[in-house]
Amino acid sequence: METIFSGIQPSGIPTIGNYIGAMKQFVHLQEDYQCYFCIVDEHAITVPQDRLKLREQILQLASLYLAVGLDPTKATIFIQSEIPAHAEASWIVQCNTPLGELERMTQFKDKSQKTGRTSVSAGLLTYPPLMVADIILYNTNLVPVGEDQKQHLELTRDFVERFNTRYATPKQPILVMPEVKIPKKDAGGRIMSLQEPTKKMSKSDTNSKGFISMLDEPSNIRKKIKSAVTDSSGVIEYDPENKPGISNLLVIYSAMSDLTIDEIVAKYTDSNYATFKADLAEVVVNELEPIQTRYKELLVSDELQQILDEGAVEASKVANKTLQRMKNAVGLGRKPRR
Ligand code: TYM
Repeated sequence: METIFSGIQPSGIPTIGNYIGAMKQFVHLQEDYQCYFCIVDEHAITVPQDRLKLREQILQLASLYLAVGLDPTKATIFIQSEIPAHAEASWIVQCNTPLGELERMTQFKDKSQKTGRTSVSAGLLTYPPLMVADIILYNTNLVPVGEDQKQHLELTRDFVERFNTRYATPKQPILVMPEVKIPKKDAGGRIMSLQEPTKKMSKSDTNSKGFISMLDEPSNIRKKIKSAVTDSSGVIEYDPENKPGISNLLVIYSAMSDLTIDEIVAKYTDSNYATFKADLAEVVVNELEPIQTRYKELLVSDELQQILDEGAVEASKVANKTLQRMKNAVGLGRKPRR
């Protein structure tokens, strides 16, 4: 069976962008793959976090993983910082990655431009090697993510190629080469902000009207969709170049219903934006309400703690083996004794 790894940062409550771009894929994929789904808390501290809030968000994300339908008998669910191998492997990755490659990463350039290079943490620069470590430790074949992670996956593939070339024999590669799996744009690979539809929807957006959190109250979801930015044409059609607002809403509608974009466009030919938005709000509420109900039960359950305990044990078994192979490859420590 092939292996999948993916992770989400507990840097806020996941948005419907995270849900459509990543989590929904996870639920389908767990049926056919050996899956590892991680709460990547070490990634979250590359920018300042409130420690109590971070702790809370870690468990909230774990409950959401389960509430959307991830099944701990099929997928290993765990917290990154509970497996020391991630940080250790990340060091080996950093020492085998040219600085220039990290400085070219779009996310680093964007964030460091905003905050200023002298005040961003070094962790923001070395964040992609940590992501590489996450992926390679589990001998991952496939990584389901949204489009914004594409560049990090390219870096991962380049690293695997370089590391195997440097340290392995062609017959016995040390690391598995992962493939990336990104939904097409019209299937939700990049859900846009409701307020600035040319920008990605993000859980850390300072304008909360720009995103729908998976835990937003129904009344709030209705309000946010009602005030979503569209255009003055009033024609419901999919044209992301010229009509990014309505096109984004169509993608959300399609991802949360069993209708294709063409079917939705046909359904609303003689309609208007207000009616379309009101219906979309109900589609989103209907999808999220049962998840929110399960989430609330799980958050306070012993079951959640137990699943995370067992997840950490399972994950560390695989991760430690890969880490040992990497250490052997580069010559760290003493030769393992039989
Ligand atoms: P994060 O926490 O920003 O996002 C989690 C997942 O959600 C996807 N996503 C989106 N998809 C569609 N539309 C959007 N607006 C949108 N926003 C986010 C992301 O692409 C991602 O799949 N670096 C990663 C976490 C990570 C990881 C990994 C992922 C760490 N290690 C190893 C895969 C494998 C991140 O910051 O995701």
